[in-house]
Amino acid sequence: MHKCITLFFLLFIVNIHNTFASELHVASPDGTISAEVILQNGEVFYSISRLNRPLIENSRLGFVIKDQASLSKNWEIASSNEESVDEMWMQPWGEKKNIRNHYHELKINFKENTQRPRQMTIVFRVFNDGVGFRYVIPQQQQLHNFEIMDEITEFNLADNYNAWFIKAYQWNRYEYLYQKKPINEIDSVHTPITFETKNGLYLSIHEAALTDYSSMTLKRTSDHGFEADLVPWSDGVKVKTQTPLKTPWRTIQIADTPGGLITSYLILNLNEPNKLSDVSWIKPGKYVGIWWAMHLGKTTWSSGPKHGATTANAKRYIDFAAKYHLSGVLIEGWNIGWDGDWTANGDQFNFITSYPDFDIEEVSSYAAQRGVHIIGHHETGGAVMNYVKQMEDAVKFCNKYGVNTVKTGYVNWGTGIKRLDEHGNLQGEWHHGQYMVQHYRKVVETAAKYHIMICAHEPIKDTGIRRTYPNMMSREGARGQEYNAWSEDGGNPPDHTTILPFTRLLAGPMDFTPGIFDILLENDERPNNRIPTTLAKQLALYVVIYSPLQMAADLPENYEKNLKPFQFIVDVPVDWQDTKVLHSRIGDYVTIVRQDRNSDDWYLGSITDENGRMLVAPLNFLTEGKHYVAEIYRDGLSADYQTNPLDIDITEMLVDNGMTMMLRLAPGGGQAIRFRPANQNDVERLGGE
Ligand code: NOJ
Ligand code: CA
Repeated sequence: MHKCITLFFLLFIVNIHNTFASELHVASPDGTISAEVILQNGEVFYSISRLNRPLIENSRLGFVIKDQASLSKNWEIASSNEESVDEMWMQPWGEKKNIRNHYHELKINFKENTQRPRQMTIVFRVFNDGVGFRYVIPQQQQLHNFEIMDEITEFNLADNYNAWFIKAYQWNRYEYLYQKKPINEIDSVHTPITFETKNGLYLSIHEAALTDYSSMTLKRTSDHGFEADLVPWSDGVKVKTQTPLKTPWRTIQIADTPGGLITSYLILNLNEPNKLSDVSWIKPGKYVGIWWAMHLGKTTWSSGPKHGATTANAKRYIDFAAKYHLSGVLIEGWNIGWDGDWTANGDQFNFITSYPDFDIEEVSSYAAQRGVHIIGHHETGGAVMNYVKQMEDAVKFCNKYGVNTVKTGYVNWGTGIKRLDEHGNLQGEWHHGQYMVQHYRKVVETAAKYHIMICAHEPIKDTGIRRTYPNMMSREGARGQEYNAWSEDGGNPPDHTTILPFTRLLAGPMDFTPGIFDILLENDERPNNRIPTTLAKQLALYVVIYSPLQMAADLPENYEKNLKPFQFIVDVPVDWQDTKVLHSRIGDYVTIVRQDRNSDDWYLGSITDENGRMLVAPLNFLTEGKHYVAEIYRDGLSADYQTNPLDIDITEMLVDNGMTMMLRLAPGGGQAIRFRPANQNDVERLGGE
């Protein structure tokens, strides 16, 4: 690691209207972004600007603490120091292999000017693509165990920007459609929240390294200002903690284009390095599953004549996965507990006992012989105490049967996550509070012990912990494909997937489950539902929505009927050397290209909202002097997500890095392209075109 310490900040003392103020300043390595920390009359504020224009102004820092004076007044600067880091690190898997961690840091140690002074440190890291800051409360005599009643971190945006967001404090986790509104019409939001400034900059506020704290939502407190609103425990306390404490980082990513937010790795950079020494067992992959049929109502999770997870059905999926080199088969509804209202009776789930028509011994050896892994499923119904009791045995069980990945689930409405408090009373907790943050972390750590990867549904939002625990593969945490199967509001409108990359996906990978080919669902148990997409767009999502575990979500028979487009799903990798964004307009369209980590191939995914578009894509990302075959999967001329979603045009073209391509996207459509190096035969075959 190359580390150098430089002096790059200024400390000066100024007199503003006779009040005593000190100001410390730190700038990004390229000098474009700067953060100021201001101590004024004993209170601490910060502001952030880019190229001399303010983005966040005069925002307060501190805490309200139970039964003690708040940690927000009477501060003096005890000392400060600065550091500069410039290092490269490698992701074991990811959307980009080698990541540069390059920042200037300012650390300020504050001390109260009271009789029994307490201490607090605030750390700012300023990168070329944004800012992260956190509180560090050191071990000290005056502060041991304590309860945070409020974190008063403010984000006073410099103007009334437009924002894309989902509302906070709704029981259905993060599964909502995004809204776009000016800040002054917003109430309370989850992060990431993404802003467009009036002069065309893009900002996203989120957090990094949420480990043992409650998650941060934002509450609007002024015309265009927010305050951190930590999700409380059922007794109203926000965080139960002790010193030494490091809070999660509060992050502000900043870019000139929306796409610049996608290729910002600031959140990963602010997480701790990999804690698992051996990661050879962690493998990204594609999977099919006993899953969509349940969401369509064709089969059931529960036992009975329509039970989906039977030995015979599992073998059918394993055969399909083996035939098309997909590494995993998800099996939902295999275990006892699904009969009756499982969302209310999660205590009934047993994670080591299968239904009688599912023979785990037989299924697991059948899968092993064919080189396929089973993806296990631990739906808890939100009955976390029941799961915790069985967790260690449950993951041991998985390990024994070659189940290398577990999809977890926490579906629960209304009552919340049940917890027995210290008086033995049953309480309902939020999915996003500290109790669950601790739980989700415990699951990842326990799974790692037994070499199990995790794909969490109804998760806590991602804050980049995959860097520290690379077995934390993917998660849901937004409205996924499942809503297209059963929601009565028309499913996810076409613009949903053009917003996700700039909001939810800034946090990390998503198990969206793309790849539905039977778009119309006409002859189904769901005749009133359909997928608001074209077929080509379903393919493009494999590139646009990054996930190291990517599902081929449809039924095997729907793929067998459509092998030509299915070839793209067979080919597309899930682990990338690099990622670039060619087009980006939030809520309208996005084009992403990614380079395969294990070959010389590149892949392109381009998607649009309900409007058709022609986008010009320069191919200068390809290696100079090489010919490539572009295997193109695009909307047909009459394709339209409403009237002709299945019209797809599959064609080939010889291209090189000096060319540009016109991407034709139908209304609600998309385009997927594989670029593979051309051989002599390809050049002869396609060269004349
Ligand atoms: C909701 C999850 O998102 C879905 O994928 C799963 O099939 C059901 N819960 C049942 O666990
Ligand atoms: Ca869900």
